[in-house]
Order: sequence, then C-alpha cells, then structure tokens
Amino acid sequence: MFNRRKFLQSSVLASTGWMMKDHLEFTPKKGIATKPIVISTWNFGKAANAGAWEVLSKQGRALDAVEAGVKIPEADPNNHSVGYAGLPDRDGHVTLDACIMDEKSNCGSVMCLEHIVHPISVARMVMEKTPHIILVGEGALQFALANGFSKTNLLTPESEKMWKDWLKSSNYQPVINTENKASASVRMAPVPGGPFNHDTIGMLALDASGNMSGACTTSGLAYKMHGRVGDSPVIGAGLFVDNEVGAATSTGVGEEVIRISGSHLVVELMRQGATPGDACKKAVERIVKRDPEKAKGLQVGFLAMRNDGSYGAFCIQKGFTYAVRTSAEDKIYESESWI
Ligand code: GLY
Repeated sequence: MFNRRKFLQSSVLASTGWMMKDHLEFTPKKGIATKPIVISTWNFGKAANAGAWEVLSKQGRALDAVEAGVKIPEADPNNHSVGYAGLPDRDGHVTLDACIMDEKSNCGSVMCLEHIVHPISVARMVMEKTPHIILVGEGALQFALANGFSKTNLLTPESEKMWKDWLKSSNYQPVINTENKASASVRMAPVPGGPFNHDTIGMLALDASGNMSGACTTSGLAYKMHGRVGDSPVIGAGLFVDNEVGAATSTGVGEEVIRISGSHLVVELMRQGATPGDACKKAVERIVKRDPEKAKGLQVGFLAMRNDGSYGAFCIQKGFTYAVRTSAEDKIYESESWI
C-alpha cells in the first residue's frame, strides 16, 4: 500500500529538492486574502487578467470578468494553444474546448468546437440559454451559429505551417511545458525536431461582492486524435467553483487531470482545510503516486483560490507560471513543483 515514505523512496528525482519543498511555504504570500482578485495560468494570463480587471475594478461580476479575460488569449494570433490560431489536431482541424462556472454552480461547456473564435462565450450561452451543460462538436457549432456567432477559419498560415512541418514526421509525442521561458511566444515555439508545447488558460476570479467564477479554454494537445477532448471543458477536471469554499483550474496533460477529477479534488481538499497551495500539491501527489516514472515526463499544474481571495499553485515540472491581478499587484509568479 502506498504511503508517504514509499512515495519518497519510489522516485529517483524526488530526492533532496522534493523533501525541502515539502517544508517550504508556497509562494506568493500564502494566506493573504484580498478582493477583488483574478488569477490565471501561464505568462499570457497577465494580459488576460487585464481584461478581467476591467470588469472587477468597476465592481463587476466575477462571471463577466472571467469571460472577458480569457477572450483575450482566445483571440490572440500569437497564442497557438487557445482559440484562434490554436494548433490543429492531426487531421488539420482546430477543435476547441472551454467551460465556465459561476457562484451558483451554474456551468456550461463546449467540446470539440470548430470555427468559433470564442468558445468560452458559447459555453456561457449553453449555461444561460439551454437546460444542458455540455454541447459537443457539430451540435455546439449549430448552437453557436444559431445564436449569432460567426464562422471563422481558425487555422492561421503560421499554425498550418507548423502542422504541415509536423506531418513530415507525424511523431505524436508531446513535450509539455517543462521549461519556463520569459515570454509565452517563446514558450509556445516548436521544440526543435519534434512536437510542441501547449498551454491552457484557466482563470479564477473573486469579485467585490464576494462571488467567485472560473473559466477554462484551450485548443488542447497539438496534433491530438480528431475528437479528443481533454480536461479543460470537463467540469470538475479542468475547472471547478464552489462559492462556499473556493475554485480551482488546471493545465497540462488533460488525461491525467481527468483521472483524478483534479479541480474538484483541489476544492474538496480546501473544504477540508487545506490551503490553496497545499490542496494543489496534494492533487499533484495523487497523479505522481499513480505512476511516478510517467509523471517525470509530463506536466500538470493546478491553480486554486479560496473564497477569501487567498491562492496557491503546484505543478509536476518546474516552469508552470501564473498571473495575479489585484488592486495592489499585477504580477507573474512561478509555481512550486514536484521536480
Ligand atoms: N489541459 C488541456 C488539454 O489536455 O487539452
């Protein structure tokens, strides 16, 4: 049976660094609570937070803030992992996944949606205008078009070139976010001679009224099988919000997050008293425990916020960053990591 001692023994990489990290405080400013506040994954979260802050700083609703925030990377032609210009699946289709959740546990999701720049807004419309939570593929597209969204070719010349270069080897072996670089555009660059990194934007906000919402949106793993859906649009995996406790979101290899219902797990751990950072760490441990060898080769990061505005993160590989915006700061922090 697994226990903490065996866990430490089982990982070659989990040596001194891991044990030291076990006793470190999570950065930044564990326990500091403030509102309004918005946090989001990766360096590109900073620009997204600016969009959310426009809403939050005017006493707006967290739900409006997270939608406005993640729409920024969704429309960014230089971001190849979210929305427009996202890298396609192996057949050349850009298929988008997104979900949104509010303070009353209302939620909406779209999966494998093509031709729409802002899947997050379609997800919100599913939440607000239908009796359902999830629409997929052709049905999601039909719903979007019937509700005023227009069809756009999401495959930009740059993304198409990357895909065609990849087709020469068709080597599906994603290298995911194991190294932090100064700018998102660098981090998004192709790995020489091989596949590509990818990232998801997950955003959590607490508004001035004390209500929380979250949003999560991605083009998923580059060159995935057509029809593959990751964790991002799965409520409880890529995103979970419970206004009584807090909220969490994830990035990285979605399959690993789905297996443990990652974001829901993080929120439940916070309900039991864990700090946001500790809850994220425990969720990462759950993934690592399942297969420590496999975990050395993949990235998953969790980001969490308690309903008092305190926040934290934890990831498998060093390099996961997240952006924080409050009235006092507008910064990017590096998450604590297992490796
Ligand atoms: N975390 C995004 C994905 O796996 O698609």
